[in-house]
Amino acid sequence: MVLAIETSCDDTAACLYDGERILSHVVYRQEVHATVGGVIPEWASREHEVKLPLAVVEALSQAGVDWTNLRVVAAAQGPGLLGSLLIGSTFARALAAAWNIPFIGVHHLEAHIASIELGEKPPLYPMIVLVATGGHTHLYRVLHPLRIELLGRTVDDAVGEAFDKVAASLGLPYPGGPQIEKLAAQGNPFAFAFPTPRTTGVWDFSFSGLKTAFLYARRDHPELRTEDLCASWQHAVSVYLTDKLIRAAQAFHIPRIGLVGGVASNQYLRQYLHSQAEKHSLELYLAPLQYCMDNAAMIAVAAWHRYANGLYSPLTETPFAR
Ligand code: KG4
Ligand code: ZN
Repeated sequence: MVLAIETSCDDTAACLYDGERILSHVVYRQEVHATVGGVIPEWASREHEVKLPLAVVEALSQAGVDWTNLRVVAAAQGPGLLGSLLIGSTFARALAAAWNIPFIGVHHLEAHIASIELGEKPPLYPMIVLVATGGHTHLYRVLHPLRIELLGRTVDDAVGEAFDKVAASLGLPYPGGPQIEKLAAQGNPFAFAFPTPRTTGVWDFSFSGLKTAFLYARRDHPELRTEDLCASWQHAVSVYLTDKLIRAAQAFHIPRIGLVGGVASNQYLRQYLHSQAEKHSLELYLAPLQYCMDNAAMIAVAAWHRYANGLYSPLTETPFAR
């Protein structure tokens, strides 16, 4: 059994996994950041420090096991906020040392990719996977959960960050993605045509232009309802992400695509991607809704692959921010 810990950003999570089933999963979403439009790193670290021991104790008790059942402890090592990562990683390494079991440090994005394995349909590889979060928009060719190749990435804002900034411009709380989705659900996605961003690298992304286009559209078209603008913006983002995923699958002759990360919880994006994947005869793998936002189950699954291949980490391995 693996005990997995996730504290990369503002979610404190712990989970127990036996290689087949998630036996318990605890996530404390930090609310202190809601009013300030983004995550305050210092506050996040302090919250983790208080909440992580509680999350671990609760995960053990929900699963009905004690530490003698554990074979390995895993934690996210990065990328993320260094202070936050240090709390989770140091806690996990201290437990591993005290219990005399191996520690496995997990790459946060490798873990998001592994969240696909928590879905109902066991995934096949290779697959083109888009990691769409608040900090990253990375397109990968995944040959195996442990063999991933980066094809492209955002050259400026991450897509989740763009959702957060658009929401903040409307005075809505952080995280902004769910707020925009709620407004967009009452709007017309074809009310306004946002431009498609351009990048030099074919598999790269850019979101700062789209974000600014939202601000300008709002300023220059007071006749448009906010709901319609949000729906149109969300549509433009969905088309942009979907087109690139599908074009990559075609270019690399890979009939499978996947979407993971916090932004993958967006229902409009999920449905749009689903319809386009079907149209292009591609098999689609979406991270299950409860494992899109940061969570420890994805850390556990990624760690399990490493454990099965004897890839342990030294206790001296420290976290990295980027
Ligand atoms: O994966 P995640 O929990 O953390 C990172 O690794 O960054 O992603 C958080 C991001 C935030 O920017 C949040 O606004 C966005 O995911 N997000 C959404 C939705 N739910 C969360 N974006 C669009 N639509 C949503 N429903
Ligand atoms: Zn994440």
